[in-house]
Amino acid sequence: MSARRLAATFLLAAAAAAATLSLACVPEERDALLAFRDGVTGDPAGRLATWRRRGGGGDCCRWRGVRRGGAELDDRGYYAGGAALVGAISPALLSLRRLRHLDLSRNYLQGSPPGPPPAFLGGLASLRYLNLSGIYFSGEVPPHLGNLSSLRYLDLSTDFSPQLARSSELSWLARMPSLRHLSLSSVDLSSARDWPLAIAMLPSLTALHLSSCSLPSSSTQQWRRLLPRNLTNLKLLDLSMNHLDHRAELAWIWNITSLTDLNLMGTHLHGQIPDELDAMASLQVLDLSYNGNRATMPRSLRGLCNLRVLDLDSALDGGDIGELMQRLPQQCSSSNMLQELYLPNNGMTRTLPDYDKLMHLTGLRVLDLSYNNLTGPIPRSMGNLSGLDILDLSFNNLTGLIPAGEGCFAGLSTLVLSENFLTGQIPEEIGYLGSLTTLDLYGNHLSGHVPSEIGKLANLTYLDISRNDLDGVITEEHFARLARLTTIDLSLNPLKIEVGSEWKPPFSLEKANFSHCAMGPLFPAWLQWQVDFSCLDISSTGINDTLPDWLSIAFPKMAVLDISENSIYGGLPANLEAMSIQELYLSSNQLTGHIPKLPRNITILDISINSLSGPLPKIQSPKLLSLILFSNHITGRIPSGSQLDTLYEEHPYMYSGNSGLCGPPLRENCSANDASKLDGQEIAERDFDPMSFGFGHCLGFVFGLWVVFCVLLFKKSWRLCYFCFIDRIYDQIYVFLVLTCKRFGRG
Ligand SMILES: *[C@@H]1O[C@H](CO)[C@@H](O)[C@H](O)[C@H]1NC(C)=O
Ligand SMILES: *[C@@H]1O[C@H](CO)[C@@H](O)[C@H](O)[C@H]1NC(C)=O
Ligand SMILES: *[C@@H]1O[C@H](CO)[C@@H](O)[C@H](O)[C@H]1NC(C)=O
Ligand SMILES: *[C@@H]1O[C@H](CO)[C@@H](O)[C@H](O)[C@H]1NC(C)=O
Ligand SMILES: *[C@@H]1O[C@H](CO)[C@@H](O)[C@H](O)[C@H]1NC(C)=O
Ligand SMILES: *[C@@H]1O[C@H](CO)[C@@H](O)[C@H](O)[C@H]1NC(C)=O
Ligand SMILES: *[C@@H]1O[C@H](CO)[C@@H](O)[C@H](O)[C@H]1NC(C)=O
Ligand SMILES: *[C@@H]1O[C@H](CO)[C@@H](O)[C@H](O)[C@H]1NC(C)=O
Ligand SMILES: *[C@@H]1O[C@H](CO)[C@@H](O)[C@H](O)[C@H]1NC(C)=O
Ligand SMILES: *[C@@H]1O[C@H](CO)[C@@H](O)[C@H](O)[C@H]1NC(C)=O
Ligand SMILES: *[C@@H]1O[C@H](CO)[C@@H](O)[C@H](O)[C@H]1NC(C)=O
Ligand SMILES: *[C@@H]1O[C@H](CO)[C@@H](O)[C@H](O)[C@H]1NC(C)=O
Repeated sequence: MSARRLAATFLLAAAAAAATLSLACVPEERDALLAFRDGVTGDPAGRLATWRRRGGGGDCCRWRGVRRGGAELDDRGYYAGGAALVGAISPALLSLRRLRHLDLSRNYLQGSPPGPPPAFLGGLASLRYLNLSGIYFSGEVPPHLGNLSSLRYLDLSTDFSPQLARSSELSWLARMPSLRHLSLSSVDLSSARDWPLAIAMLPSLTALHLSSCSLPSSSTQQWRRLLPRNLTNLKLLDLSMNHLDHRAELAWIWNITSLTDLNLMGTHLHGQIPDELDAMASLQVLDLSYNGNRATMPRSLRGLCNLRVLDLDSALDGGDIGELMQRLPQQCSSSNMLQELYLPNNGMTRTLPDYDKLMHLTGLRVLDLSYNNLTGPIPRSMGNLSGLDILDLSFNNLTGLIPAGEGCFAGLSTLVLSENFLTGQIPEEIGYLGSLTTLDLYGNHLSGHVPSEIGKLANLTYLDISRNDLDGVITEEHFARLARLTTIDLSLNPLKIEVGSEWKPPFSLEKANFSHCAMGPLFPAWLQWQVDFSCLDISSTGINDTLPDWLSIAFPKMAVLDISENSIYGGLPANLEAMSIQELYLSSNQLTGHIPKLPRNITILDISINSLSGPLPKIQSPKLLSLILFSNHITGRIPSGSQLDTLYEEHPYMYSGNSGLCGPPLRENCSANDASKLDGQEIAERDFDPMSFGFGHCLGFVFGLWVVFCVLLFKKSWRLCYFCFIDRIYDQIYVFLVLTCKRFGRG
C-alpha cells in the first residue's frame, strides 16, 4: 500500500522537508531516487544531503523534496540563490511508474553538454503535472512527451532566455487531450507551422503561454474560425514577444470570449484593433504594449467591464488624451473598476482632462501617462482621483504649478512629474502626502525655497528634485522625519545645505547626489554616519578642506564617489587601497603628494588637474578601465603592459601635462640614470581583457534578465529608482540590450 502511495505522489520540493506523512520506503523507489541523485553532479546548497541509503536516511519518504509520503517529486531549484541542482535527469526515474507530479523547475538539469528534455519522461504514464521550466534544455523537444496522456500541466518554458529548445512540429500535443495548462515560452516554434491545429485539439486548455516562441504566422481565415470555436475554456493567453507583424484584425484571438488575461506585448500587430475586443467582457488584464505605435484602438473599450489592468505602453499612434479616456471602460460596477492604466510612449497630445471627464476611472491605482506630448497644466481636480497610488506624468510638456491642497492625491505613494516645464514652488501641502515613498520632480523649472514640510514625509525613500531652479537653504528640519530615505538627488539647484557639524541624520542613504549645491567649505561631517553609501556625488559643492581621515573607512559599500571640482587640498588617504570603491573622481582639486596604492576593485580613477607628484604606484587593479592622470606632476617611466596600453588607446590624453613622465607610449625618452625608472619597472603587468570584464561580469545576468531590461528600458520602476552607479552599468549594457531587444523584435 505504501509503495503505491509513494509511487503515486512524489514531489521533490525544497520546501517540503517538513512533510509529515511517514510511510515505509520501498526499496525500488528508493533506488530510483538514489540513481536520480547520482545524476546530479552539483548540489551547492546540499538539498539532497538527506538522500542516503543508510544512517537514518533510509526512509526515502522523509527525504527533502519528497512529499506526501513520496507521492510527488518536487525539486524546484533557485538558481538565483545558488541552490539549484546541476547535472542530468536520470532515466532511473522511470521506476517511479505511478508518479503523478514531477517538478524539477529552475535547476540546471539539462545535462552537459545541454541536451533536449529526456524522451524517457514520456514513459511516466501516470504523470499529471510536469514542470521542467527554467531548465536550459537544448534541441528538439521529444514527441514522446505526447505519451503522457493524463497530463494536465506541462511547463517547458524558460523565462528571459534565448531560445535553446525547439519543437518543429506539435502534433504530439494532441495526444494529451486533458491538458489544461501549457507553457512553451522561449521554445523555438518557428518551424511548427501546425501549431494552431495542435492547440485546437486541446479543448480543456485554460492557460496557454507561448511567449518568445518565434511563432509562424497564423493569420488565416481557418484559424479565425476554428480556434475560437475549439478553445472555449481558454482564460489566459500569452503570445507576447512573437513578431506576428500582421494586421490586428487578422488575429484569431478576438472572438475568444472566455479570456480573462490577454498578453500581446511586442507582437507588432498593427492597424485597427477590431471592435470584437470590446465584446470580450471577461477580460481582466489586457496588455497591448510595445507594438510599435502602429495600432489603432477600437472605437471603444467601454464594454470591458471587468478590466483591471490595461497596458498600452508604446501601443498607440498618437491621439487626444481626453478623447482616449472617454473610450475606456465606462459602465462598470464600483467593485470592478480599472485599477492600472499604462499609456506611456504614445505621442498623445492635448491637455489632461478634468476630473469630471474621469469619473469612470475613480478606481485607478496606477496612472502612467509619461513620455507623451501632453501640454497645459495638471488640473487641480485630478487630485480627486483619491485612490491613486502611483501617478507618472514625466517626460511631457506640462506647464503651470504642481496642484496642491489638503486631500489632493492624498493616498499617493509615488509621484513622478520629472522632465516637464512645471513652474512655481514645491507646495507646502506636499506634507499632506504622508504615504509618499517616491517624489520625483527633476528637470522642471521649479523655483523658490524647498518647503521644510518635505521633512514630514516619514515614508519617503526616494527624493529627486534635481535640475530645477530651487534655492534657499536646506536645513536639518527638511530631513527631520525622513528615517527611510535611501536615495536623494538635489543636484544642479542653487541650494545651500546647512546642517550642524554634530548633526546625525535620521536616515542611512545609499545614493546621494548634491553636485552643484553648496555644502562647504568644511567637508560635511555628517556623511561619515552614512555607512550604506554605494554612490555619493559631492562634486562642485564648494568644499575647501582636506579629505577627512574617515573617508577611506566609513563606507564599506561605496562603489562610486565623486568629489571633483572642489578646493580640496592635502594628500590622498594613505589607505585608499582598503576602499571597496569602483569609481573615484577627484579631478580639479588642489590635492598634493604621492599616489598611494589603488583599490583592487577600482575601474575608473580620475585624479586629473591636481598637484600630485611622485611615480605611479604598482597597479594591482585587474578591472581598471580608465586612469586619468593629466595635469599633475607625476614622474618616472610609464610601465609597459597590455593593461595600460589598452587604457591609453582609449584615453590618449591620460598622461598629458605630467612633464616628468617618460617612456612609451609618450615620446619623451627616459634618461639612463633616471632614478624613478625602477618604480616604473616594478609595476605589474597583468593579463587584462576588457571584453572579458564587460562580458564576464555583465553577460551572465544580462542574459538572464534581458527581457526584463527590454521592458524596463522604458518603463516605470526602472526610471524611478536608479541613478548613479546603476546608470553607469545601464550605459554599458544599453547598447547590448537595444541590439538584443531589436534582434528579438525582428523575431
Ligand atoms: C513551474 O515552475 C515555475 C517555477 O518554479 C512556476 O513559476 C510555474 O508556475 C510552474 N508551472 C506550472 C504550470 O505550475
Ligand atoms: C511514445 O511515443 C513515441 C513517439 O511519439 C513512440 O515512438 C513510443 O513508442 C511511445 N512509447 C510508449 C512507451 O508508448
Ligand atoms: C477541434 O478541432 C478539431 C479539428 O481541428 C476537431 O477534430 C475537434 O473535434 C475540435 N474539438 C472540439 C472540442 O470542438
Ligand atoms: C468573430 O465571429 C463572428 C461570428 O462568427 C465573425 O463574423 C467575425 O468575423 C469574427 N471576428 C473576428 C475578428 O474574427
Ligand atoms: C512631440 O511633439 C513634437 C512637436 O509636435 C514632435 O516633434 C515630437 O516628436 C513629439 N514627441 C512625441 C514623443 O511624440
Ligand atoms: C474635487 O474635490 C474637491 C474637494 O477636494 C471638491 O470641492 C470638488 O467639487 C471636486 N470636484 C469634482 C469634479 O468632483
Ligand atoms: C514639447 O517640448 C519639446 C521640447 O521643448 C518641443 O520640442 C516640442 O515641440 C513640444 N511639444 C509640444 C506638443 O508642444
Ligand atoms: C508608512 O509605511 C508603513 C509601512 O510601510 C505603513 O504602515 C504606514 O501606514 C505608512 N504611513 C503612511 C502615512 O502612509
Ligand atoms: C580656501 O580657504 C582658504 C582659507 O581658508 C582661502 O585662502 C582660499 O581662497 C579658499 N579657496 C577657495 C577656492 O575658496
Ligand atoms: C571587490 O569585489 C569583489 C567581487 O565583487 C568583492 O568580493 C570584494 O569584497 C571587493 N573588494 C573590496 C576591497 O571591496
Ligand atoms: C629617444 O631615443 C631614441 C633611441 O634610443 C632616439 O632615436 C630618439 O631620437 C630619442 N628621442 C628623443 C626625443 O630624445
Ligand atoms: C549627479 O547629478 C549631476 C547633475 O544632475 C549628474 O551630471 C551626475 O552624473 C550625477 N552624479 C552621479 C554620480 O550620478
